[in-house]
Amino acid sequence: MNILAISGSLRARSSNTSLLRLAASVAPDDVHVELYDGLASLPHFNPDDDLDVPPPPVLELRRRVGEADGLLFCSPEYAHGVPGSLKNALDWLVASVELPGKPVASLNASPLSTYAQASLLETLTVMSTRIVREAWVTIPVGRGDVDAQGIIASPDIARATRDALEQFVRAILADRRPA
Ligand SMILES: Cc1cc2nc3c(=O)[nH]c(=O)nc-3n(C[C@H](O)[C@H](O)[C@H](O)COP(=O)(O)O)c2cc1C
Repeated sequence: MNILAISGSLRARSSNTSLLRLAASVAPDDVHVELYDGLASLPHFNPDDDLDVPPPPVLELRRRVGEADGLLFCSPEYAHGVPGSLKNALDWLVASVELPGKPVASLNASPLSTYAQASLLETLTVMSTRIVREAWVTIPVGRGDVDAQGIIASPDIARATRDALEQFVRAILADRRPA
């Protein structure tokens, strides 16, 4: 099982990216969580550039989304919305064939950031993804929880993250079972 993890923050010591790195390290044995690191390389979305052969970073994003069994988001809230860089990536996926039906989950590192979560949910819903609601969870990460290397050592956060991943994986596998 291959999960593509997408952080909405470009910050080097981002708590959201740290939470996704933690997800990669606590994932069950047969689950590979891979961090997408191309957000900053994507050009600004322009429908005029969304041609048969789009810009290479966009092709790469779509390829990785297509190959993933599910997408795991973790994003900060900027001015009551998702950061522009994350929305930009989603805009490049609107007309893609890779996203519809793709299972999606989200870890929210800040309980105060309710608008961004709601906005991400709305965007991914209208983009026809498969929202795995039980894996849309808030896992509070305080400043003190992330060390200078961007590592989160809290057992509570690790447990909550693994629980969310397990819920996500369970839902993906359940979808595959014949009715
Ligand atoms: C430009 C800017 C706008 C922000 N707006 C909000 C906001 O509307 N609501 C909120 O809860 N936090 C807001 N924050 C705080 C960030 O969500 C918070 O710093 C978050 O932890 C950053 O995530 P990161 O550590 O992954 O970069 C804002 C931060 C910045 C830099």
